[in-house]
Amino acid sequence: MAIEQTLILCKPDAVARGLVGEIVARFERRGYVVAALKLLVCDRARAEQHYAEHKGKPFYEGLVSFITSGPLLALVVAGAGAIDGCRSTIGATDPIKAAPGSIRGDYAQTIGRNLVHGSDSLDAAGREIPIWFEPSEIVGRRNDLEHWIVAS
Ligand code: RTP
Ligand code: MG
Repeated sequence: MAIEQTLILCKPDAVARGLVGEIVARFERRGYVVAALKLLVCDRARAEQHYAEHKGKPFYEGLVSFITSGPLLALVVAGAGAIDGCRSTIGATDPIKAAPGSIRGDYAQTIGRNLVHGSDSLDAAGREIPIWFEPSEIVGRRNDLEHWIVAS
């Protein structure tokens, strides 16, 4: 299976609730690795870029307002099949439907405060990662898990 990189956001509710350690640990325990990580407050321009696919939907304004409301933790997470794998660790968009054992199924109540974002396809990951990270901020790796290199 191909090694993939995916964009993960621990959204402002995750930071405010003190859950980022728990959330990042779940990806790590599954064997994925953190290739980049930063805490930041997302401005409106970045939020609009990130959520461009949702522009015009009824929840769009609330989504942009929420994602810019406080600090969030952005990560690039890497591993075999990491895009779909991280989505399954995150759980269904609506926490009511998210399986127990998933992040949303264990920690979230409502769709508007569902704690985590994960890229939903290879195309999305390729589009989203550069919105949040410079190439020099992402630590790459060779084919074996032991040897990490800085990609630049
Ligand atoms: P995400 O992008 O955050 O990983 O979530 P997702 O793929 O599971 O869901 P997506 O369809 O991309 O929606 C992005 C975020 O918008 C909010 N949302 N609210 N009906 C609603 O009120 C509604 N639908 C979506 C959620 O916070 C969702 O994570
Ligand atoms: Mg999405």
